[in-house]
Amino acid sequence: MSIKILKPVHRPLLGVMEVPGDKSISHRAIIFGSLANGITTVSHFLDGEDCLRTIAAFQAMGVSIEVQGHTVTIHGQGLAGLKEPKQPIYLGNSGTTARLLIGVLAGLPYHFTLYGDDSLTIRPMDRVAIPVSEMGAIIDGRDNGKYLPLSIRGGILKSISFETPIKSAQVKSGVLLAGLLAEGITEVTERTTTRDHTENMLLAFGGRVTKEQDKISIKGKQRLEGTSIQVPGDISSAAFFLVAAAISKGSNLTINNVGLNPTRTGIIDVLKKMGADITIVEEKLIGGEPIGSISIKSSSLKGTVIEGDIIPRMIDEIPIIALLASQAEGETIIRDAEELRYKETDRIESVVKTMQAFGVKIEGTSDGMIIAGESSLQGAEVDSYGDHRIGMMIAVASLIANGPVTLENAECIAVSYPKFFSDLEEILKTSS
Ligand code: S3P
Repeated sequence: MSIKILKPVHRPLLGVMEVPGDKSISHRAIIFGSLANGITTVSHFLDGEDCLRTIAAFQAMGVSIEVQGHTVTIHGQGLAGLKEPKQPIYLGNSGTTARLLIGVLAGLPYHFTLYGDDSLTIRPMDRVAIPVSEMGAIIDGRDNGKYLPLSIRGGILKSISFETPIKSAQVKSGVLLAGLLAEGITEVTERTTTRDHTENMLLAFGGRVTKEQDKISIKGKQRLEGTSIQVPGDISSAAFFLVAAAISKGSNLTINNVGLNPTRTGIIDVLKKMGADITIVEEKLIGGEPIGSISIKSSSLKGTVIEGDIIPRMIDEIPIIALLASQAEGETIIRDAEELRYKETDRIESVVKTMQAFGVKIEGTSDGMIIAGESSLQGAEVDSYGDHRIGMMIAVASLIANGPVTLENAECIAVSYPKFFSDLEEILKTSS
């Protein structure tokens, strides 16, 4: 456990920066590269702990994967290159590895055991295990197959038509991946659009997937070809700097090379709605993913209501938006975000407890929170609870607090942003 003492700086964020590669896209590049035939090169890969778990999982199945800094080379040999692992596969803290892998393993004629850390062990896996069991896999685990450790006996799968009851890209992607290995055409209907990186990446590997209204269809047994993937900067990581700049007086920050996929840009819409001075320049489309730069200046902000279809487009940004809301004029209400309860922590509870420790008036509801604005943050002793996004939110809050902040369990930030503190220091240095 590492403890960090964070001193308030009350300084603007000035200059130009980039953030590490997108976590969701990095995972998918490894998965599709391992299923494809031929060499895949992934550049600007996120070397966070979660994505390294996905690499280790495929290495355990015999795929040759080399990591050199932020470049990963995968020597894919198609499905024939995947072997039965001799040992259980450890997934650490990574929900994305777990949910997407369940879909892949369901279609392989082997036995697998998956386990994870304390947080992952209490996150529901049946949301993917149930539909892929319907397709033919035999899955069991703790509490009647709901939780890790899970045992999976994969094999021949039949296609299904699945209407997902949960607003989750992980669930959609798990079923689509099982569909890729199944006989026939698998359909997934989602009433609320979630991030579509699985669909985009399948196309980049020469596969086919179609979307008609809210129904996504994938044909099984497609042959994928290795390719080059350039991972855009992660907007979910950029969000911490965007909010830090929005709430630190005198800031003027540009973040280049950020992924601007519309299924992920809810944070930009919320910042704009709250009155942030923000400019977006879309520059190019790489592998079906729009990439560009975001510039933001500090400004006065006003509270808002965040609800409905925007929630999945910014689900991981809600902790940092809670901090943003605490600095706005008036109240902010977040609704329809019950999925927060199933993240690395119950993020309604962990956000509320953390913000209260800083002296913010905030109240949790069953599906969101109500945050009072214009709060002056006091110094605090707080814990990330092992949740990387809570850890980074605390670090940003400390910039504007009135006293020192002690952050326990800071090391978990390496799950998605190993160099978070040095990048933050670097951008603050410009203004010193
Ligand atoms: C992810 C989807 C989201 C998100 C997670 C990554 C993905 O989860 O919270 O960090 O890569 O598909 P859900 O789809 O379960 O909401």
